[in-house]
Amino acid sequence: MGFGERYSEGDMSVSDVEIRKAAGLLAAANHVVVLTGAGVSKESGVPTFRDAMEGLWANFNPEELATPQAFRRNPQLVWDWYEMRRQKVDAVQPNPGHYAIARLEDRLPHVTVVTQNVDGLHRMAGSTDVIELHGNIRQHKCFDACQGEPTLIDLGSLRWAHADRPPRCPHCGAHVRPNVVWFGESLPAGAFSRAQQLAETADVVLIVGTSGIVQPAASLPYYAKRLGHAQLIDVNPERDEIAPICDVFLQGPSGVILPQVLAAVDALNKA
Ligand code: OAD
Repeated sequence: MGFGERYSEGDMSVSDVEIRKAAGLLAAANHVVVLTGAGVSKESGVPTFRDAMEGLWANFNPEELATPQAFRRNPQLVWDWYEMRRQKVDAVQPNPGHYAIARLEDRLPHVTVVTQNVDGLHRMAGSTDVIELHGNIRQHKCFDACQGEPTLIDLGSLRWAHADRPPRCPHCGAHVRPNVVWFGESLPAGAFSRAQQLAETADVVLIVGTSGIVQPAASLPYYAKRLGHAQLIDVNPERDEIAPICDVFLQGPSGVILPQVLAAVDALNKA
């Protein structure tokens, strides 16, 4: 079989064979962790970060926008960039990939979503156990964490002039900022330790739509494989950094692949 030729077994294409293999691993699993990145939201219309040319980082320099130093230097610029992203997120809906992940909860005993995304689309699709490693773009907090980290602030309760944006913390007067993790910042307390504990005890880790570049999230599949006993399934149109250690690689968009995996799990459960 030459390089790039599509292997087929009977009338099933390689993708069908691999989808059924992934479904078999999931159907037999007691504890499943679903690790997602920006790719799972791509088909909802939310830009990824590193997709060539169209990713967010293709048009912006993250160091100029997604760091505490950038916010101190120019709070209005950073505030406006996140408000632009939040408005994009408010305008979109979960896609079939999010819904398939949510419906895995009805089929399997324990499913936890660990996401790097800040768009809130997993919960909107119905996932109930979601760890948001990088925060949530719809939430805001005091830049100085004056009441503890995070000092969440309800923007709706503040009176502030758009020209004076970002608004000020009602407790201490510091700037209000998005409740998301910036480069060089720690992840929300407890979030990563819970995610790591779940990865190390998982039977299957389903990795969806991440380049596998940003730490510490990208280390979770390695913990699952090396410190735990997990089988790894990777869903991505491209071979990402994690694909080489995965047991199954499903090459394609998650909005197409994941509903097929869910259907194959249902077929196995009916058999
Ligand atoms: P990236 O933009 O680095 O990677 C997105 C991945 O999704 C790539 O591997 C794409 O090939 C893949 N992809 C594209 N379309 C897809 C689709 N339809 N279905 C499935 N996958 C698809 O985004 P992340 O890996 O999430 O952190 O980046 C991780 C972190 O880097 C982000 O959370 C953010 C960024 O800096 C912070 O802001 C702290």
